[in-house]
Amino acid sequence: MTGTTRSAAPETPETRETWSHNTGFILAAIGSAVGLGNIWRFPGVAYESGGGAFLIPYLVALLTAGIPILFLDYAIGHRYRAAAPLAYRRMARPAEALGWFQIMLSFVISVYYAAVVAWSLSYFVYAFDLRWGEDTLGFFVGDYLQVGDPVISTSVVPAVAIPLVLVWVAVLLIIAAGVANGVQRVNIIFIPLLVVAFTGLVVRSLTLPGAMDGLNALFTPDWSALTDLNVWIAAYAQIFFSLSIAFGIMVTYASYQRRKANMTSSGLVVAFANSSFEILAGIGVFATLGFFAHQQQVEVAELEGLTGPILSFVTFPAVISEMPGGNIFGVVFFASLVLAGFTSIISILLGVAASVQEKFGLGRRASAILVSVLCGTLSISLFSTTSGLLALDTVDQFANNVGIVVSAIVMTVVVVWVLRRGEVLRRHLNAVSTFKVGRVWVALIGILVPGFLVVMLGQKLVSLVSDGYEDLPAWYLAVFGWGMLGFVVVAALVLTAIPWKGRDDLSFRAWPELEEEQR
Ligand code: PFF
Repeated sequence: MTGTTRSAAPETPETRETWSHNTGFILAAIGSAVGLGNIWRFPGVAYESGGGAFLIPYLVALLTAGIPILFLDYAIGHRYRAAAPLAYRRMARPAEALGWFQIMLSFVISVYYAAVVAWSLSYFVYAFDLRWGEDTLGFFVGDYLQVGDPVISTSVVPAVAIPLVLVWVAVLLIIAAGVANGVQRVNIIFIPLLVVAFTGLVVRSLTLPGAMDGLNALFTPDWSALTDLNVWIAAYAQIFFSLSIAFGIMVTYASYQRRKANMTSSGLVVAFANSSFEILAGIGVFATLGFFAHQQQVEVAELEGLTGPILSFVTFPAVISEMPGGNIFGVVFFASLVLAGFTSIISILLGVAASVQEKFGLGRRASAILVSVLCGTLSISLFSTTSGLLALDTVDQFANNVGIVVSAIVMTVVVVWVLRRGEVLRRHLNAVSTFKVGRVWVALIGILVPGFLVVMLGQKLVSLVSDGYEDLPAWYLAVFGWGMLGFVVVAALVLTAIPWKGRDDLSFRAWPELEEEQR
């Protein structure tokens, strides 16, 4: 074990903790990718964005940006063997700020993501006796979250706070236990369990009356959607969030791989596993909605509340109540959300904790405690109060549609154009992997990805500035939207400016040595 206490021998790239085997790394990376985004985000986004036709922009986004940026994250983490800030710093000192920008974005996401995992935990318990009753919207917003009139409220809701504390304590213990003993172990158990449980749900959903109508609604293509820029934006945004890329998290995960590790082949396995799970979730969710429409004798298109928290916490409970043996279905559905969400939240926290550990020269446990207590306190004070739902939605919108896009643009431009590491990283990947990447990879991450993302960001900014978001007052967006992004930028700059207290990185030598590397 390395780095458990401040006085322990300082970690070196040679003594850095590693995943025990490639399967451990692959399962952990799948655990990070497969999360709430697959179960509640993908089906609704696909349905709203052209149904079956959405699969085209989705696959294009996966192949042109998803997999290339996943490889880029892996290459940076594996070559420079550190969490994002130090990995970028090892390329060039000022680039540390980019690492902190990504990590601060993850920090923000962790704060609300944990809240949704906590809700899933509550609903897992409620599913046993279908406690949500007839009026599932009233139950979720009123009885459970107790969303109140004041837009900002400080009254803590115990039913949310208790599972939230449990989630944070579990996250803390796992991160403190380390990469192999904590994170890897959890994923080795949870991911197979999730696959079995979720496949069972999908099979059951396909046997329900009306299931086929649901699938037709999801997969009947609306070809005109392909000419709509917003549909393409939705596809790229979905791929980024879903694969956990450009958040600094995959950089951190890859940094714990052994020096000789087949990076690109593992990346392909992770990317295809994630997308397969996503499509499986689309099938399961829409087959279930087809049943719901059938029960109510309406068309699937007439159903409302098909995305985000409302899909999982309002529409699904209503369907579950109508289903024969619904409580078993409900228990397995919410258990799947907990498993999927939990393995993602630990990846986010590991990224944040490892960054703090390296920068401040702390031990692993000390940084795990510091970061979990900080994020947990924020999470509980923001999201177990009666104003949580609105804040969550606003922060999510700005972090995922603006923050992460900025992150990916800056990352690709800085690495390829400013630091000129595209070719070195390509040769690094090829030196360790069996699936070789050609020069087209550098062209994709250097030209196509930033080019398209700039157009996408421009469009999004224009719409946010001119139309606002969800009719929310300007001051509210200024705080939870723009303010949150401003905080991420300022925090990244401040953290970069703080003198480095961890191990001096100047002696670091990247392996394998490549001639092109200029220091
Ligand atoms: N990929 C996760 C999901 O689809 O739910 C969410 C996520 C995990 C986003 C890790 C970002 C991250 F760094």
